[in-house]
Amino acid sequence: MKLIKVLNHMKLIKRLNIVTLLSFIFTMIGSIPLLAQPKWEQNLEQEIINKLKELTELRQNLANTIVNKRADEIDETIFKNVCAPVGVALQNWANEKGFEAFQKSHKARNPQNVLPSQYQKFLSQFQNKAKRPTHITQHAHTESGNTVLEIIYPIYVVSSCLKCHGKAEDRPAFIKSKYPNDLAYNFRDGDLRGFFLIRAPLTNKANP
Ligand code: HEC
Repeated sequence: MKLIKVLNHMKLIKRLNIVTLLSFIFTMIGSIPLLAQPKWEQNLEQEIINKLKELTELRQNLANTIVNKRADEIDETIFKNVCAPVGVALQNWANEKGFEAFQKSHKARNPQNVLPSQYQKFLSQFQNKAKRPTHITQHAHTESGNTVLEIIYPIYVVSSCLKCHGKAEDRPAFIKSKYPNDLAYNFRDGDLRGFFLIRAPLTNKANP
C-alpha cells in the first residue's frame, strides 16, 4: 500500500513538472517579440508613450478649466484653449522629432481625423473595458517602403469632455455650425474617443 502511495506521489510530481515546463516554454515563446525589440527601440517607444500621456493630461487639465461654463458661454475662443492646443503641441513635437502624428477617431469631428479602415480592428481591443491594452505597438511600412514604429494610443472620454462631446443638442453653437459633419458627440464618461497614431521612422536608426 505504502509503495503504491509513493508511486502515485511520484507520478503527480512528474505531471507537475511537465506542466511547469510547458508553462515556462509558453511564457518564453510569448516574450520573444519583446526580447527581439532592441533597447533603443524600446526607449523610442517609451519616449512616445510618455509624450502621449503628457498630452492626455494636458487636454484633461484644459477641459477642467471650463467645466463650470454654460454651453452658450463656450465659443471658439474657449475651444482654442482645449483641444486645439493639444493638436498644436502634438504637431510641434512630431515635427521636431521627425515623426508623423495624427489623432484618429471612429466618430470624428474634424473630417481630417476620420479613422482609416485598416485601424478599425483596434477599436474593439480598446473598447473591451475588462482587458484593454495600454497601447499597441507594431512595425509598419510607409508608401515609400520605409519601416516605421507605429504606436496606437487610446484617448478616453472623461466627464469634462462632455461639455463639447456630450449630448448632440448640448454642443456649443460654434461646434454645430463649424462642423456640419460632426460625429464626435453622445459620448459617455469612459468611452473610447479615438486614438493618437504616431509613426517614427526606424530604417535610419537601424542602420546608423
Ligand atoms: C471646448 C470644447 C471641447 C472640449 C471641452 C473638448 N473638446 Fe475635443 N474637440 C473639440 C473640437 C471643436 C474639436 C475639433 C478640432 C479640430 O477642428 O481639429 C475636437 C477634437 C477632438 C479630437 C480629435 C478627433 C476629432 O474628432 O476630430 C479628440 C481626440 C478630442 N477632441 C478629444 C477630447 C477629449 C478626450 C476631451 C476631454 C478631455 C475633449 N476633447 C474636450 C472641442 C472640445
